[in-house]
Amino acid sequence: MNKKNILLEYSEYTALQELVESDVQLIHKAIDIAKKSYSPYSKFPVGAAVLLDNGEVFAGNNQENIAYPSGTCAERTVLNYVHANFPTHKIKVIAITALASSSSIPVTPCGFCRQVIVEMEQNQAEPIKVILHKIGGSTYVFESALSLLPLAFEEVYLKK
Ligand code: THU
Repeated sequence: MNKKNILLEYSEYTALQELVESDVQLIHKAIDIAKKSYSPYSKFPVGAAVLLDNGEVFAGNNQENIAYPSGTCAERTVLNYVHANFPTHKIKVIAITALASSSSIPVTPCGFCRQVIVEMEQNQAEPIKVILHKIGGSTYVFESALSLLPLAFEEVYLKK
């Protein structure tokens, strides 16, 4: 038996001024769009903003439904929109934030969303920077989406 370890590496920023300006702007977009979230059931508004390789920015928020599983997270709202409309563009960065989290650290994406971000990252063959921001708190920056989903289920497993 061999014990193995997986290293999860990210940078923590305690002040927004430490980040590059384009990342700060993306965080502000995520905060703004979170305010328009449709989350009457969880009362947990989340916003996500994406920067594409052509400089365009898109944002989305969580959209809930009385049939709870029909709801969609903020990340997939924006990622699926971007992938539907700009399939040939690469995603450089995604910034994610929650308005009302009682946790002391930034909100982290759910497993579904991590899977979706990782597939987009692998298809474009360039890392997607993932920024998790806690309003009034710190910001975590992951240089690649795959670091948030080690041992991700991926295409290679389906190959015959
Ligand atoms: N949610 C997101 O939109 N993104 C996350 O990263 C975590 C959770 C949403 C889903 C649901 O609308 C609400 O937050 C509570 O789970």
